[in-house]
Amino acid sequence: MRLIQRTLIHRTNGSDLSSSSRDFLAIEGLVLSDLRALLDRAERLLPAAVGDAPADERLRGRVVANLFFEDSTRTRVSFEIAAKRLGAEVVNLGASGSSTSKGETLVDTARNIEAMGVDAIVVRTSISGGAALVARNVACPVINAGDGRHEHPTQALLDVLALKLRFGDLAGKRVAIVGDIANSRVARSATHALVALGAHVVAVGPPALVPEGFEDLARGAGSITISHNLDPILNEVDAIMMLRVQTERAAGGGIAPDYRSTYGLTETRKNRLKAGVAILHPGPVNRGVEIDDSVAEDPADSLILAQVSCGVAARMAVLLRALDR
Ligand code: CP
Repeated sequence: MRLIQRTLIHRTNGSDLSSSSRDFLAIEGLVLSDLRALLDRAERLLPAAVGDAPADERLRGRVVANLFFEDSTRTRVSFEIAAKRLGAEVVNLGASGSSTSKGETLVDTARNIEAMGVDAIVVRTSISGGAALVARNVACPVINAGDGRHEHPTQALLDVLALKLRFGDLAGKRVAIVGDIANSRVARSATHALVALGAHVVAVGPPALVPEGFEDLARGAGSITISHNLDPILNEVDAIMMLRVQTERAAGGGIAPDYRSTYGLTETRKNRLKAGVAILHPGPVNRGVEIDDSVAEDPADSLILAQVSCGVAARMAVLLRALDR
């Protein structure tokens, strides 16, 4: 009844419903205490997330809809596992096999799924701002699973959680984010989170892939600098996050033939990093382009699969924030 009333209100007003505080749309604007609470909760949930502790059934009887209109391996599957570890049921919808192929809009799709009585919507879309657009048009909580070039906030939570497990407090830590910053929602969300937590971000990439003014992106106790040269900063950073060149978003292009030699984390460059450095990559990895095989597989320093494990815990924390009231 509550849903029907809300739907009717929406239809008769003809205006957007206000976005709920249970939405999780971006790291930008998230209050620091909320960010810290999510990280603490995710850390506590980690054993249950990876199956080392009994599942937590707090969301039994709830239904989470995964609307993924861009391809995904890690985010979609980990949201599904996270929901199931919490006892919720999950429905999955993608671009292929849904009526979006007949021209149905993102908002219409979300409103129809909500009308079936789901409790939360997780959305991935190529539209920057698409998650907020959905949130303005449905009454249930909406979680951004990556919207265009805008943000990928649960990725930032898992990145920061993986770093916290390695370093503890991140205040004062120097984190390089290397590669296609311009097209990367991962870089934007991670930068907001890291700066909020007092870390120093070095955004590294060719001028065409680092947006002008990126150093002013985020607010917090940390800071941002830009470098167009990877080699001089290698021995200065505590962590290095390599990004995939997002050819699907680039206006014209493929990967420059000299990309690996100028911006790739090769074995040679790996040997010039500090001892104990943390190596991150959000995936999917283009091995031999932005990172060498041996570096991605480094048993001591690569956190790439630890990030993926942290992703389940981070998404459990976000689902509980949305639904456990
Ligand atoms: N990191 C990330 O978003 O990976 P997927 O595209 O596989 O979800």
